[in-house]
Amino acid sequence: MKRIILSAAVAFTGLFAVANAPQAANSHVDANCNLTIPRDNMTNRDAHDVYLCLADTLSRGYLTGDKRWIPREFVQDFRTWTPASTLPADPGTHSGRFLFTYVNQVGAAQYTKYQESNFTMPVGSVIAKESFSVTKKGKAKPGPLFIMQKAAAGASPKTNDWYYMMVSPKGKPLSVNVFRACNDCHEGFADSDYMGYPEEEVRRRF
Ligand code: HEC
Repeated sequence: MKRIILSAAVAFTGLFAVANAPQAANSHVDANCNLTIPRDNMTNRDAHDVYLCLADTLSRGYLTGDKRWIPREFVQDFRTWTPASTLPADPGTHSGRFLFTYVNQVGAAQYTKYQESNFTMPVGSVIAKESFSVTKKGKAKPGPLFIMQKAAAGASPKTNDWYYMMVSPKGKPLSVNVFRACNDCHEGFADSDYMGYPEEEVRRRF
């Protein structure tokens, strides 16, 4: 029970931080969320400032329109889940985007162990990863919301029972060949039940 209360408090704090953090006076991010310095000089803190500035645009964009085969509550609620990142980071995958990861209550305890082998994520786990990119000149651009859902054992043997989903920055559910576009890469993390995890230095630990 303690653990549940704790993770709820952390999730709430995460949401609060995204929604309300004021921008510092010496921030390198302008009112349009663009960097005032080149991307190559960008620090983690700058990435975080871009994220705080873009957060509302991202969630409004993802929620626009019909979600079709994607459960709307995933898109609506993910910011209330447990954040698994401390900062948005660019791991060099997902097309050079900065990523920020949230895990729902079913999956949070297991995911945030960042275990490398000998486990399976609980059925019903959902992980959502929002993204944005920054051009060389510093222009910030919203990116897609990436989602993985752990289905019942045997539901999708080719993907180790993961369903992959993607919502465009304008809210359109993107239909892609998930085997090629997602699973071919994620199955490379077979030992950790297809979980790639955020970069070491931005993993939020509990
Ligand atoms: C080229 C490899 C690659 C491709 C292609 C790829 N991913 Fe990922 N994915 C990763 C890596 C690496 C991580 C962990 C990166 C991080 O968070 O810094 C990750 C993390 C994730 C996560 C968070 C759960 C986890 O694994 O830690 C989700 C959700 C996700 N990807 C969804 C998708 C979806 C949906 C697609 C297809 C549209 C996709 N990914 C395509 C490599 C890939």
